Amino acid sequence: MTQDPPELLAISPDDIDPVLVGRAADALLAGGLVAIPTETVYGLGCDAGNEDAVRRVFAAKGRPSSDPLIVHVDGPTMLGTVVAGPLPPAALELIDAFWPGPLTLVLPRSEAISDAITGGLDTVAVRCPSHPVAAAIIRQAGVPVAAPSANRFSRISPTSAAHVIDELGDACDVIVDGGRADRGLESTVVAVTDDSVVVLRHGSLPAETIQARCSVPVLDHDATVAANASPGHDKRHYSPRCPAVGATPDAFSPPDVGSRTGSVVVAGYGDRRPDLPAEWAFVELGSLSDPDQVGRDLYENLRRLDASGHEVIVLELTGLAGLGRAIDDRLTRAASSVVATTPAALAAAIDAALARPDHQP
Ligand code: TXA
Ligand code: MG
Repeated sequence: MTQDPPELLAISPDDIDPVLVGRAADALLAGGLVAIPTETVYGLGCDAGNEDAVRRVFAAKGRPSSDPLIVHVDGPTMLGTVVAGPLPPAALELIDAFWPGPLTLVLPRSEAISDAITGGLDTVAVRCPSHPVAAAIIRQAGVPVAAPSANRFSRISPTSAAHVIDELGDACDVIVDGGRADRGLESTVVAVTDDSVVVLRHGSLPAETIQARCSVPVLDHDATVAANASPGHDKRHYSPRCPAVGATPDAFSPPDVGSRTGSVVVAGYGDRRPDLPAEWAFVELGSLSDPDQVGRDLYENLRRLDASGHEVIVLELTGLAGLGRAIDDRLTRAASSVVATTPAALAAAIDAALARPDHQP
């Protein structure tokens, strides 16, 4: 496959063009890297059975080979080629309730899945996307598609084709534009066994919703011992280039401007707007009464904040359950896991961000 420029294919989810779907599927089968829209974020896809293509995906992202990829299937039949059966009963319940959709299951892998995908683990992460364009391309290709989010390692995930072009344009053979991702946050990743479901990454499908449809306990990864350790849990991820600091509402009562001057922007919620010093800017991430919208727009907002020319971004956590867990996870890691809970801690964190060697006034 040629490296550049990538071929751009606009495929409307409301009116799927089979010729264009065929072009994307052919590019996958020829070993190409194809950026694909999903309901969560855009993925950088390749034929999961082509180890060279899988290696090119890792290289394009700059991702360590120990951080495994999700394999995307078009339904339960293709799933059978990816995992080693029989499936735990809880996996069948979850597939029945939530596929296609933003739920990734970690299960024992079949022999068809290479170490290149799983980083040598004996499990594989698998999901069935509900985005009609992704579903059509996988079905047409007839092979499982390995795809991480189509961003450079540790950067903000893409929710539009334009973001993919910014992040990885040169590395893609084909970029499929299927419109804006309508969830905007990655899938929820769960490890499934006979006795439990462990949430390894909070995502678009809240843990409470999963528990409501599952007969075994749904546990939080942080609350379990390392037996189910998940790779890819870096403290810094989903990050803007501009230094970012996390904060809880208590960190603004009252705000403390600290010892240094710098241009600070606080990103928070219109319905819980803190009283800020006049010199600080405020940008709305949305309303706490509509977490779906906050999630949908989060990465777009982080990109805008990054480009806004401020020296430090303060990201206010929602503190909400449900989808709030995923939103707060992304905000925390965008802030390299620095979260201030008092005014003094926020002032110190802003000072530290302004003193960072990569800070550009
Ligand atoms: O919504 C999504 O999940 C998107 C779209 C494109 O499907 N994909 C995505 O992939 O977010 P990625 O590679 O950015 O994140 C995959 C996550 C990583 O945290 C990885 O460590 C974890 O899934 N993962 C993959 N295989 C695993 C395994 N066998 N065991 C535990 N965690 C695994
Ligand atoms: Mg990712």
